Amino acid sequence: MSKVDLSVNIGPLKLRNPILLASGTVGYGNEISEFTDLNKLGGIITKSLSLRPRKGNPPQRIVETPAGMLNAIGLANVGVEVFLKEKIPFLKKYDVPLICNIAASTIEEYVECTKILTEEETIKAFEINVSCPNVREGGLQFGNDVSAVGKITAKVKAVTGKPVIIKLSPNVSYIADFARAVKENGGDAVSAINTLVGTSFNIFSRKPKIYNVNGGLSGPAIKPIALAKVLEISRNVDIPVIGSGGIMDWKDVVEFMIAGSSAIQLGTINFIDPSAPGKILEQLEEYCIKYNISKISDLTASYII
Ligand SMILES: Cc1cc2nc3c(=O)[nH]c(=O)nc-3n(C[C@H](O)[C@H](O)[C@H](O)COP(=O)(O)O)c2cc1C
Repeated sequence: MSKVDLSVNIGPLKLRNPILLASGTVGYGNEISEFTDLNKLGGIITKSLSLRPRKGNPPQRIVETPAGMLNAIGLANVGVEVFLKEKIPFLKKYDVPLICNIAASTIEEYVECTKILTEEETIKAFEINVSCPNVREGGLQFGNDVSAVGKITAKVKAVTGKPVIIKLSPNVSYIADFARAVKENGGDAVSAINTLVGTSFNIFSRKPKIYNVNGGLSGPAIKPIALAKVLEISRNVDIPVIGSGGIMDWKDVVEFMIAGSSAIQLGTINFIDPSAPGKILEQLEEYCIKYNISKISDLTASYII
């Protein structure tokens, strides 16, 4: 038995440890399951799901950048119906909390998706993506508008009894204002951060390297920004924060928890080393044992400023 209590609470959602797999970086969990034991993780967050299937943007959709990557997948996904029929059966085989991420072009679509998915008992919580930087409709159009974020939170909460986490955009001046709107409208937690808008050119063709021109920047390049945003929320709003942005190893996890995260998400690292989540979890436990941290949740917002 583990000597360390690794469990964390995200509002009403209880997780066995703080390690979650970030939306869009592990699809629906099947490929990464060959490299990481899903049963050991705190939870899995699905690729963003929309009401109808989406093809996403044409290629090129991904490009490497210094210390990170740009992606403009454009929310390609199978849609809620196919997800329930064809993807959930695989995930049901695992004893790991499933968090469904939802993306939409209208507020009604967020509500409709939540209504359909909330019936499925395998789904333990929702993460609402109001912050995708690389789609024309929805995405940042909502994520940059405090009143829209509040409205989406309230409307989604009204159709589900399950915890609702709102995934916030870093492409705003004061992220705490958005976290406050989530709290005031009954949201249970926020995820911070989604990717930052970025671009990249081929200097010979003078064309953007990504078909969509702009993409979302992720990976180690965004870690200090993500930490600052987590800290800003933690110091100003009393709401659980799930940290995300450039977490590559167990030390990054500890840093994000100190800055105010109750749990964290691993994203870009899954492309570099799909066995990293399991290793990070083991190393995190070793760190707690070595430094006499009996409850990992004591790390949350333990900054000394
Ligand atoms: C290829 C790729 C696809 C992504 N797709 C989604 C998505 O569908 N929905 C979403 O909310 N976030 C999506 N994200 C954002 C990640 O979940 C995460 O918030 C972000 O990449 C920052 O974490 P990281 O630096 O550890 O990757 C995607 C990221 C990448 C790299």
